Amino acid sequence: MSSESPAHSEELLTVGEVTARTGVAASALRFYEAEGLITAERSRGNQRLYRRHMLRRISLILAARRLGISLADVAEVFTTLPVDEPPSHRDWVRVSRSWKSQLEERRRYIQSLERQLIACIGCGCLSMRACDLLNPDDRLRTRGQGPVRLQEPDEPG
Ligand code: FES
Repeated sequence: MSSESPAHSEELLTVGEVTARTGVAASALRFYEAEGLITAERSRGNQRLYRRHMLRRISLILAARRLGISLADVAEVFTTLPVDEPPSHRDWVRVSRSWKSQLEERRRYIQSLERQLIACIGCGCLSMRACDLLNPDDRLRTRGQGPVRLQEPDEPG
């Protein structure tokens, strides 16, 4: 049995209906609209009404938040999706693959940080020149990894 108000067309949902279905607060819906992530129409009484397929966009926004994908990245992806109709299965596959790539890139970055941190364990030099964590440009990498710079006693830090 549908929970829609019979006063609304099949395609349009009120703010309350969208909030109930998605768990997203009305203020967040307004924010997403202001950011161009979703669109709303207006009733005669100037109330926001959302086309049903906006639920899928909101689902994507929620999924992205859970994945740590920025709203800016969501907005970029949404520019490639249709606004007036639901995205296709193919669209979703493309979006999820793109976000998977972002997660993989983030994992590689975290693994890189972890390797740098391991090199620091037991060192404690905190040298701006020597420490890979503090010197991400890694200017001295060619001279070895980890605390090799501790062997530079004159380093000002
Ligand atoms: S504390 Fe990072 S290399 Fe020494």
